[in-house]
Amino acid sequence: MLKRAEWDELLQLFTLMKKRRLGYMAGVLGHALSETIIMISLAFIMRDMINAIVEQDMVQLQRSSIAVIGMGIFTGLTFIIFGKLFFHSLFKTLADLRLQLFDHLSAGRVGDIEQYHPGELISRVNSDVDAVSEVFGYQFRQLVFTVLTGICAMIAMMVIDWKVGVVLVIVAVLTAVVNHYYAGKMRVVSDRIQATLGRMSATAMDAVYGSKEVRIYHMQSAQQDNYEKSNGKWLDNTKENSGIRAKLELANFSLKILNFSGMLVLGAILMAMGVTPLGEIIAMIQLLTALNMMFRELGGLVAYLQKSLAGAKRIFELFALPGELTDKQQPEEPDLSQPVIAVKGLSFAYPAGEAVIRDVSFAVQQGQTVAIVGPSGSGKSTLMKLLMGLYAPSEGSIAAYGRESRQLDVDSWRQHFSFIPQDSFLFSNTVKANLSYGRSGCAMADIELAAERSGCSGFIAQLPNGYESQITEGGGNVSGGQKQRLAIARALVKDAEVLIMDEPTASLDARTEAEIQAELDELLQQKTAIVIAHRLKTIRNVDQIFVLVDGKLVEHGDHDTLMRSQGAYFDLVMQSDQEEVVVA
Ligand SMILES: Nc1ncnc2c1ncn2[C@@H]1O[C@H](COP(=O)(O)OP(=O)(O)O)[C@@H](O)[C@H]1O
Ligand SMILES: [Mg+2]
Repeated sequence: MLKRAEWDELLQLFTLMKKRRLGYMAGVLGHALSETIIMISLAFIMRDMINAIVEQDMVQLQRSSIAVIGMGIFTGLTFIIFGKLFFHSLFKTLADLRLQLFDHLSAGRVGDIEQYHPGELISRVNSDVDAVSEVFGYQFRQLVFTVLTGICAMIAMMVIDWKVGVVLVIVAVLTAVVNHYYAGKMRVVSDRIQATLGRMSATAMDAVYGSKEVRIYHMQSAQQDNYEKSNGKWLDNTKENSGIRAKLELANFSLKILNFSGMLVLGAILMAMGVTPLGEIIAMIQLLTALNMMFRELGGLVAYLQKSLAGAKRIFELFALPGELTDKQQPEEPDLSQPVIAVKGLSFAYPAGEAVIRDVSFAVQQGQTVAIVGPSGSGKSTLMKLLMGLYAPSEGSIAAYGRESRQLDVDSWRQHFSFIPQDSFLFSNTVKANLSYGRSGCAMADIELAAERSGCSGFIAQLPNGYESQITEGGGNVSGGQKQRLAIARALVKDAEVLIMDEPTASLDARTEAEIQAELDELLQQKTAIVIAHRLKTIRNVDQIFVLVDGKLVEHGDHDTLMRSQGAYFDLVMQSDQEEVVVA
């Protein structure tokens, strides 16, 4: 049967049902109980009917017939009532669980979510909810039902004729042993099948997502081999599985015949000896079905329940991931004499990695534009994501107008910033909706102005439905440059105090970049901004330049000062000038 820990898991799973637990349990128990009552009473009604026929007792026959009709009505009523209770609580629990998981993941920390492969996370959520649905929707109910009817059938048999009952129970126990043995074997094989299916879907996913790379790097045949191998294994295991299943079915069938014919032979002898009337024997045969079912199904049912529990309990792992908004304290009033942004002693490491940002401190004053430059991989994007509160600092603090980020809930913190990340994501919605996410319900004129400034009004006008045109998932139907310009427009629509741009024009061609750059320069004049610059030429006029190398700020100052001191910035400029010459 189930282990102690598994009982605990099952109990814990019931907490997911919350207040629906009562309705569900009433549904399960009511259903099992009424089926048991029906089965046992039918056995007794049948006994009386047959004995009445044998003895030609018309009064008894009439009584039994009325009992059958009564049973029919009882069956109908209980099925409707308990079925409704059961399915209502089941479906509501599942709908609720999906919603809770979605909300939880939406409120989760980016750092935790990034630990999973997106496909894996989504398939995990789906398959784990399926597992819960299996446990509640089938396995638990079936378990209660089987055990209850089995035990009651056993008792009823003993009541009718204990000698025959003992013989039948012995054969039924034999059935249980055989089934348990084969269920164990089948579980091993079905685990192997599951693992192969997992590998196959990963290969298929790679083939779809990486369809371009697969072709460019001639990976088709290697991938096909891979898939074919897994598919072959699946076939072998499935064959093995059906082999075991066939043997089990044969064994079950033989035991059933043995039981049934044994019962008939025994019954005939007992009847001939005048010990047991025919009605009793027929009633026993009726009860035998329930008894056999219990012993036959119990082993398999427990094995499957254990497997589903393993999946279902992982839901608690996801629920255990902390949310973003947990550290909220009473915030102080913003102090406008303080810098807009002040970073102090900031350090950060990705999970299981070494520090990527090391003891960084800097401040941005109202109206200033600062640039952060540094070689690729030096931690610039990470620093911006820390500013946005997408990750929590390992050490140090970030404050806006003297209020530390950890004093505010992340939503209010993020109100300070418009952020254009290095790789933007567009949602499958209209252009207009994509542009107005940061400020829902804003005027169309604001959206159009932002689109104008970021240089996307031209191509939006050429789309079939203009601003109402649909963007496909992830921005698949717009070019990389168009996507980036839409992301800039989206940030402009939000119009927060501080504009953060992470290499916003890196994916644009030189001409478009120059066009947008002019607009951006004008915008930066009016705003407090932090810019990560791809081309160093574009940041010559900013107020401050910070140079980040290996996660450390090694230099800061304006362009002229830094050029004179001939340090890391000077080297970067020389290098990029050379590259420009080569490109030109
Ligand atoms: N999500 C992540 N998980 C783990 N490591 C990361 C992640 N993102 C970036 N890194 C690592 O952090 C370092 C800094 O990356 P990044 O901030 O993107 O640099 P930059 O923007 O300056 O090119 C790199 O070594 C990179 O491999
Ligand atoms: Mg970067």
